[in-house]
Amino acid sequence: MPSDTHISCWAIQSVDFPSVGSLSERLQFLLRYAILAPSSHNTEPWRFRVQDSRIDVLIDFSRWLKVADDDQRELHISVGCALENLLVAAEHFGLRHDIVLLPKADDPSLAVTVTFSEQIQSATHRPPVLFDMIPVRHTNHQRYEDRAIPDEVLQQLQGICVEDGIKLHLTADPEIKRQVDDLVVQGDAIEFADPAFREELAYWIGQGVFGTGWLMSKIGKLAVSYIDMGKSQATKDSDILMSSPILGLLSSEQDDRQSQLRVGQVYQRLSLLAASHGIWCQPMSQIVQVPELKAEVAALNPESGFIPQHPFRMGYAQAEKHHTPRRPVDEVLV
Ligand SMILES: Cc1cc2nc3c(=O)[nH]c(=O)nc-3n(C[C@H](O)[C@H](O)[C@H](O)COP(=O)(O)O)c2cc1C
Repeated sequence: MPSDTHISCWAIQSVDFPSVGSLSERLQFLLRYAILAPSSHNTEPWRFRVQDSRIDVLIDFSRWLKVADDDQRELHISVGCALENLLVAAEHFGLRHDIVLLPKADDPSLAVTVTFSEQIQSATHRPPVLFDMIPVRHTNHQRYEDRAIPDEVLQQLQGICVEDGIKLHLTADPEIKRQVDDLVVQGDAIEFADPAFREELAYWIGQGVFGTGWLMSKIGKLAVSYIDMGKSQATKDSDILMSSPILGLLSSEQDDRQSQLRVGQVYQRLSLLAASHGIWCQPMSQIVQVPELKAEVAALNPESGFIPQHPFRMGYAQAEKHHTPRRPVDEVLV
């Protein structure tokens, strides 16, 4: 169950960085930023190993959503998000990083090795404001305001996607919105009709991952386990989707693990930059979790031949009142 330490992770202060400490102490501090990344169902499917000047980012397969994410797409995207927070923080504290994605063909749990050195590095696709937004960003589940995102902001957001083989598509097209809405409604109905899906969701709610109090977690768990919530979820999802000024899709040329890690990196940078403009994001994974719906998403994607990886909506709204909990660094350190 989440305790105060699981929420106080968000109160991180950059002045606490051990600037005169050893490199390994400084690297451990960077992990306090990495763990604030988003992950599907807030499963936090990562672990970290600090060795000399290197951090190994590991995938914790015991936290994989076997039902909702049977192809491990979201597992890898989530770890990519944590990696990006790590790199943003490293650049802020004046550390250069060199990364190798999936360095060992025979070890799928070793997602990334990052080697650090004492050298200034500031990539143009990581403007300094991203760092300040790490403890501010959150997934915003509310209706978004009826307010367009200005073109110059959309261009800035578009410019954040520089990874080879990854495309970011942002659209305000009402017809696309209507079609995606239709897919979301179908996705909710299909998934909530599946007892295994509900059971898995109920398990994670019961773990308190969404930050509700202990009692609320238990009640939520019971409700999701025993009631088919597809219809009410679909009505809610449809309402919030139609309120969104922009829908986004990250897609990739290859449908491989490297691409999914990179998609996570782009999504994280994008949501940090968006937050600096008061714009929030919410992924809509149901439409890529169901194979037949994923095929329809692919048909809507103007990047023909690219595989849909991560659909989401964006817009202005009041910030959520609470952050979701996180396991502190010592719980995820190998
Ligand atoms: C790969 C991925 C898929 C996600 N899918 C959904 C989704 O379908 N619906 C949703 O509301 N949130 C989704 N989320 C957001 C997570 O629920 C959220 O990141 C997590 O609960 C932590 O909360 P935070 O982002 O506010 O810190 C997803 C996040 C990631 C990284």
